[in-house]
Amino acid sequence: MDIDLLAPDVFSGHRFLDQLAAVRARPGLTWHPEPDGPGFWVAARYDDVHTVLGDPATFSSREGIRLGGTDEAARLVADRMMVVSDPPRHGRIRRVVGAPFTPAALRLWHDRIVAGVTDLVDEVVEAGAGGPLGDRPDEAAGPLVRDAVVRDAVVRDAVGDLTQRLPNQVICAMMDLPRADWPLIGRLTTDGLDSPDPIDRLDANAEIFGYFADLIHQRRARPGDDLISALLAAGGDLTDDELILNCSGVLTGASETVRYAAAGALLVFADRPELWTALRASPELLPTTVEEILRWTSPGLHALRTVTRPVTVSGSDLLPGERVTAWLCSANRDPAVFPDPDTFRPDRTPNRHLAFGWGPHVCVGARVARLELTALLTALISRVRTIAPAGKPVWSTGNFIHGLTSLPVLLRPA
Ligand code: HEM
Repeated sequence: MDIDLLAPDVFSGHRFLDQLAAVRARPGLTWHPEPDGPGFWVAARYDDVHTVLGDPATFSSREGIRLGGTDEAARLVADRMMVVSDPPRHGRIRRVVGAPFTPAALRLWHDRIVAGVTDLVDEVVEAGAGGPLGDRPDEAAGPLVRDAVVRDAVVRDAVGDLTQRLPNQVICAMMDLPRADWPLIGRLTTDGLDSPDPIDRLDANAEIFGYFADLIHQRRARPGDDLISALLAAGGDLTDDELILNCSGVLTGASETVRYAAAGALLVFADRPELWTALRASPELLPTTVEEILRWTSPGLHALRTVTRPVTVSGSDLLPGERVTAWLCSANRDPAVFPDPDTFRPDRTPNRHLAFGWGPHVCVGARVARLELTALLTALISRVRTIAPAGKPVWSTGNFIHGLTSLPVLLRPA
């Protein structure tokens, strides 16, 4: 099989998992050529991904963490932005940025997050109970105006109407941003991460940095019970520029991943209605279902590292300066670790997936992500009887953060 982990159509066609399965079956790591670059190693097996992500002294994050990033962008943020730093600097930043994400801190936001997610679900499914939304004024209804009511059910784009708004709503509420700014923040975050043009990405990120510069100034003068104020209170030795960069890092980490995990979950339930019926009948399956959603969707496809010293991984000799991509989505489908990996099993136990990464950079927002997905499913369970496909799913072209960009579904209210 030809392997091309740089081709957008491999990702929009959702064929990368087959390619990665072929790579997993090869001995050692696989060398991947690059038309405009030196090439990179591909680590696709669970154990190899674990090895790479667990050893930051040999596999550094300082020169960038994704394919398609520029050296220039990495240089600007290395050692200042948590995800683009190595220990010990990484640990010092993480002590500050991680402060609002401890279990104790999260208890503060728990009810706000659940209430926000529940309101969003209510808004999206209410048409089934309350009639068509077609005549709603644009501004109030947002993307809902294009929905249609079919008998007692309602057709929705599960991504545009629900899962894309979900993390944006949660993180903007946690940061206590003015409601009027939420759509702008959502758009800039997506452009900053996903725009195919690196210059557009830089522009969007520059705009986000400017926004956070003003916000940090305001919150320092008038602290509140929000994520930014908590981060400022933890302060450490971070400069204002570093605080700004890391607020933006949290925003990006929070926004682009959860929406794809949630959308992937809805596709599973639309394709396999018996699973939705079973979950509604046995909500105690929720915790294992959420873990299986994370394994199954793995929205962060790869993490990139740069080799700092000669090392041998699974028999392949890697040299300093070479780049390695650790494919989390592939580790999560490794049959050596997950029996029947290509089947979604809501009761899978154990489920030691690597969707949140591994090692020092393991996702700082994992608890928030789990809470969002749990709140979403809990709200849907009591409000939606069936989820059915209503059109063709559309996948993103990205090879870094990946998932559904559109998923028409028919929701039949409970
Ligand atoms: C399904 C949801 C999510 C997935 C799949 C995910 C995945 C990941 C992965 C794979 C990493 C490691 C990156 C690396 O090693 O280079 C990571 C790190 C990170 N994530 Fe998440 N994430 C999710 C949700 C969130 C949320 C909700 C937030 C914030 C509220 C967040 C903020 C971050 C940050 C700031 C880092 C950098 C951590 C560090 O460098 O120490 N993520 N995430």
